[in-house]
Amino acid sequence: MDDQEIFAAVGEDGFRRLVAAFYRQVPGDAILGPMYPPDDLAGAEQRLRDFLVGRFGGPPRYMEQRGHPRLRMRHAPFAVDKAARDRWLELMSLALDEAQFPPEVDALLREFFGAVATMMINRQE
Ligand code: HEM
Repeated sequence: MDDQEIFAAVGEDGFRRLVAAFYRQVPGDAILGPMYPPDDLAGAEQRLRDFLVGRFGGPPRYMEQRGHPRLRMRHAPFAVDKAARDRWLELMSLALDEAQFPPEVDALLREFFGAVATMMINRQE
């Protein structure tokens, strides 16, 4: 299954539901809550959603608005240690449970998120 096929299976609406389910959990989270901008959570939600849509072959809105993702650089201001990485993946895992994508898509997205999240670690515990 390639990226285009993932997008065909998930669609704009699937990524919208996934990212909404993730961000719904963020404000109440002890580790992640304080890291995200309280007055621009909707903007943060849109950035992640647009990034994922573009990454998997949908409309390139993220690139148009934000340029090249350079995700490690963009995460540098935030203290991402292993605990933060684990928590991010935990919330995304719950969001994936809720989104109910086909099993093959679900597995590929979990693998993708796991790999990217590990790359974002920029602080020792
Ligand atoms: C490892 C744990 C992670 C933490 C603690 C974390 C935290 C954050 C925070 C605090 C922001 C700023 C919110 C905003 O205003 O946009 C952000 C932005 C973002 N994150 Fe993460 N993140 C993590 C992993 C990931 C992963 C795995 C991805 C992609 C699969 C990702 C994609 C993004 C994107 C696209 C943005 C918006 C960047 C921009 O255009 O400014 N993050 N992240």
